[in-house]
Amino acid sequence: MKLELRNITKRFGALVANDQISLTLAPGEIHSLLGENGAGKSTLMNVLYGLLQPDEGEILIDDKPVSFSGPGDAMAAGIGMVHQHFMLIPVFTVAENVVLGHEPTGVLGTLDLPAARKLVKEISDRFGFDIDPDAKIQDLPVGAQQRVEIIKSLARNAKILVLDEPTAVLTPQETDELMQIMRDLAKSGTSIIFITHKLREVQQVSDRITVIRLGKVVASPSPKASASELASLMVGREVDLNVKRKAPKLGAETLVIENLTVLDDRSHQMVDGVSFSVHDGEVLAIAGVQGNGQTELAEAILGLRKIHSGTIHVAGRDLTKSTVREVLEAGLGYIPEDRKKDGLVGDFTIAENLMLDGSYSAPFAKGVQIDFEARDRIANELIQEFDIRTPSAETLAKQLSGGNQQKVVVARELSRELKVLVASQPTRGVDVGSIEFIHEQIIAARDSGKSVLIISTELDEVLALADRIAVMYRGRIVGIVDAKTTREKLGKMMAGIAA
Ligand SMILES: Nc1ncnc2c1ncn2[C@@H]1O[C@H](COP(=O)(O)OP(=O)(O)OP(=O)(O)O)[C@@H](O)[C@H]1O
Ligand SMILES: [Mg+2]
Repeated sequence: MKLELRNITKRFGALVANDQISLTLAPGEIHSLLGENGAGKSTLMNVLYGLLQPDEGEILIDDKPVSFSGPGDAMAAGIGMVHQHFMLIPVFTVAENVVLGHEPTGVLGTLDLPAARKLVKEISDRFGFDIDPDAKIQDLPVGAQQRVEIIKSLARNAKILVLDEPTAVLTPQETDELMQIMRDLAKSGTSIIFITHKLREVQQVSDRITVIRLGKVVASPSPKASASELASLMVGREVDLNVKRKAPKLGAETLVIENLTVLDDRSHQMVDGVSFSVHDGEVLAIAGVQGNGQTELAEAILGLRKIHSGTIHVAGRDLTKSTVREVLEAGLGYIPEDRKKDGLVGDFTIAENLMLDGSYSAPFAKGVQIDFEARDRIANELIQEFDIRTPSAETLAKQLSGGNQQKVVVARELSRELKVLVASQPTRGVDVGSIEFIHEQIIAARDSGKSVLIISTELDEVLALADRIAVMYRGRIVGIVDAKTTREKLGKMMAGIAA
């Protein structure tokens, strides 16, 4: 199936999110869509999938104009989309989810459960997905859940698949598997539009690349282009992903964790006797494959999750049994891995989100009242400084692009008075230019004497920031090594292989 988007324009009020975008997709082609946060990638895909109506322009399938009044029409025309936030129902099985489909569209209901089980098995075998039709979604790792999303589209005969940042939440191994699946699908004639901020992935799988900036197509570089060429086409300037940093000047041990044990919601022991400390002026990074207890560790430090045993001290103060508010007031800053769940209130404005934890203290409060003028001034300064792409400080957080939402959380936390910064996946979904900026800010926090704990599954990020690296595997810290440790050795430690 051949797809053409011709001169698509989509406006939100005065903002032109897509400005005369034209794009073609040949059968069996993997076409990567690159662009900085807020460039208009997801908007364009939502237009293609019938979730948004374009103000101008046409969609053509096999040279015939089509119009989609909703995702049902797009699916019926052979277009499938895997959203970044999965639409699966956790307590249902794979096959049940395939019967249900993503959205109430009307094209569904054509599958019954036995047919769905058979189809899931066929598709899974054909592409080596390794998915059991009767497995419950909640028991599957994220990578497998994503394959279920792909199966859902293929079960409805999708010939064009849109993958919007599919790898943001995957482990390196799951990412490799997905790349292989994409190649196999393409070989079988399925076309794929692929969105990612990881340039290495773009180089690995693309047959064609289109770069958009500020809603316009600005370049169609060769798939052989170097990462730095791609980065500068996206951002419109040179990007340096190697943060410059001086040797750390170590101060007191401000964050001290001793023998910490934490259980998950199902009483599994996720953090198992973990001890470490972070000095002022130091970045300690916790490296590890997603799911080895890092999430629960961060939540426990923040007071979001109950501590089973062990202690947490910040600047000598025992915070083991403290509430989130007490922990924040003790001088901890927190960038959560899931900004939608823990970091932002979607229906609040950006200005409101930028002051979430500080509303009861200076500089935002005057006595018992909020000083709106100060709030708006500071919000606008942060929007400038952190390059948050938004029409105004009064825009609702949920209307921002994914990466710009992340920047709001980072700006808020880095602008507070902190002793300790805990940052989980601080650059997830963020474009290369903003990664450079956020990394510089984290190093600046370290150089100003803060204790910084980074939790990241991205080895590139760990190596760019860490003074010391603690590797976590199955709830334990298997080793704390210095920042000069090789990728190979870290990779082995992350896989639980003794180095
Ligand atoms: N429903 C909406 N209402 C108002 N503005 C919107 C809405 N959806 C998107 N926008 C704006 O349109 C622009 C493009 O957003 P889009 O989500 O397409 O960016 P993106 O390229 O996908 O970025 P990212 O890499 O951060 O995901 C942004 O400025 C965003 O704030
Ligand atoms: Mg997007």
